[in-house]
Amino acid sequence: MELCVALDLPTKEENLVLIEKIKAHDVWLKVGLRTYIRDGEEFLKAIKEINPDFKIFLDLKLYDIPNTMADAAESIMGLGVDMFNVHASAGKRAMETVMQRLEKFESRPIVLAVTALTSFAEDEFQAVYESSIQQKANQFAKDAQDAGLDGVVCSAFESRSIKNITDVNFMTLTPGIRPFGEDAGDQKRVADVAFAKNESVDFIVVGRPIYQSQNPAEVVSKILAQF
Ligand code: C5P
Repeated sequence: MELCVALDLPTKEENLVLIEKIKAHDVWLKVGLRTYIRDGEEFLKAIKEINPDFKIFLDLKLYDIPNTMADAAESIMGLGVDMFNVHASAGKRAMETVMQRLEKFESRPIVLAVTALTSFAEDEFQAVYESSIQQKANQFAKDAQDAGLDGVVCSAFESRSIKNITDVNFMTLTPGIRPFGEDAGDQKRVADVAFAKNESVDFIVVGRPIYQSQNPAEVVSKILAQF
């Protein structure tokens, strides 16, 4: 299992201070919408300057018509990130179009599909997708695999059933992790590290429990010790 730290602090400077504090650890860094919109490619370079071994997950959750998603994915190739994601609900054809566009590159980042956002409660999800989270997450995972993606973003509660219906190296990445039972915030479906490990999750994403802590490096160490 790998730990991915969400860089969701309000300013670039605060994110850089956080990265400095955890730079000795073997972790992935997740750059989300706010940070990327505000700080852009320069910020990605700044991360690699602090430690070139940091792996970067660009969490932009692409969702558009197939050609526009593929255009965006091709632009992402120029950023040198190690992982990015798209929404599975954009459809199988959109995911296939993205993967076909990346075929011309010698190597490419890991590409994941978002199934159900971990902030969804079951009834809220039902109102949008007219399906249970579990059922839809399984279907999205199959679509993503058929389209040639490497894995999905899901909650730790869906990881096991997705692993059961996909190939052995199909990956799951799970946000909504509260490593030691911390406050859930707006997340509706949260799990701890031990649960994620037991469900064969490949990547856990942890944001607030790390960056809101007095000692982020210590929280990172404690999480890694559980792996
Ligand atoms: O602070 P917290 O640990 O809840 O942060 C979770 C991170 O994972 C946030 O950056 C959020 O945008 C992201 N995320 C999520 N649920 C998804 C996909 C991404 O919470 N399904």
